[in-house]
Amino acid sequence: INTMRKLNNGVKIPCVGYGTFRTPEDVAERAVADAIEVGYRHIDTAAVYGNEEAVGRGIKDAGINRKELFITSKLWNTERGYASTKKALQDSLDRLGLDYLDLYLIHWPANEKQFSADAKRLNAETWRAMEEMYHEGKIRAIGLSNFMPHHVAELMETAEIKPMVDQIEVHPGWPHTEEIKKLQAMDLLVEAWAPLGGQGSSVLENETLQQIAARHHKSVAQVCLRWVLQQGVLPLPKSVHVSRMQQNTDFFDFELTPDEMKQISALRDLGGQCADPDEVDY
Ligand code: A2P
Repeated sequence: INTMRKLNNGVKIPCVGYGTFRTPEDVAERAVADAIEVGYRHIDTAAVYGNEEAVGRGIKDAGINRKELFITSKLWNTERGYASTKKALQDSLDRLGLDYLDLYLIHWPANEKQFSADAKRLNAETWRAMEEMYHEGKIRAIGLSNFMPHHVAELMETAEIKPMVDQIEVHPGWPHTEEIKKLQAMDLLVEAWAPLGGQGSSVLENETLQQIAARHHKSVAQVCLRWVLQQGVLPLPKSVHVSRMQQNTDFFDFELTPDEMKQISALRDLGGQCADPDEVDY
C-alpha cells in the first residue's frame, strides 16, 4: 500500500490512503494510530470532518517520522476566497499539530447554481491563495476535490499552477468513468472517496460483486478497491476496525479481467452519496 505514485510536480504519494470521513473525534485518535500501525502512511482528513485534532494526536501516538507520512486536509466551503483560505490552512495545521501538509484540497467547487457569475471568481481567488501557500512551502502539493472536468477547465483559465490531484466520489454505484478519463488526461491524479460506496449504499451487498469476489477468493470491499486501482485511481478506504483496515490493504495479489472491470462499471444506481457538485448547496 505504500508503493509510491508521482504527482505532476514530482511529489510522491503512497498509492492507498486511509480515509477519516465520518470518523468521530472520540474515535479518530485511536483509529489513525491503529491505521498507521497496520501500515498506512497516507492519511486523509478535512476541516469539516471535525476530527483534525484527534487525527493529529493519532499521528503523534503512532510515533512515526513525519517525513514518512503523507497527510491531506481540505479547505471547507465557508472559507473560500483569498484571505480566508490562508487562515483556514493555518487553522488546520494548528489543529493537526503539524507545520506543513503534504496535500491541501479545495473541498468543493463554488458552483453557479449557488454563486451565479461569482462562482468562477471565487474559485480562482481560492486557488491563488493555494498557489501562494504552495510557493511558501506550507503544502507540498495542491489540488481539488469534487471538481468535475468542466470546473477544472474553468479554473485552468486563471491558474498558474496546475492542480496535482482531484478527489472525487468513485465506487461501483457512482463510477464517474468518463470524468476519471478526462481528469487523468489533464494530468491530475484522481483519488476516490467512498470507494466502498459510503454510507447508505448497497455496494457491499451487490450480488454481481459478490460473485466476482468469490471467484477471486476476495471480499467485495477488496474487489471495489482493486477496481478503483486498476483505473489508475487512488483509493481512500475508511474503517475504524483493525481487521477491516487490514483487509483494505490486501488487494494487490489478484487482477480483475477486462470483462469484470466493465461489468462492475456498468452496475450503477447502488445508492451512496452520489453527490453532484453542481447541485449541492454548500
Ligand atoms: P467501519 O468504519 O465500521 O468499518 P467508504 O470507504 O466507501 O466510505 O466506506 C466505508 C464504510 O464501509 C464504513 O461504513 C466502514 O465501516 C465500512 N467498511 C470499511 N471497510 C470494510 C470492509 N472491508 N468490509 C465491510 N465494510 C467495510
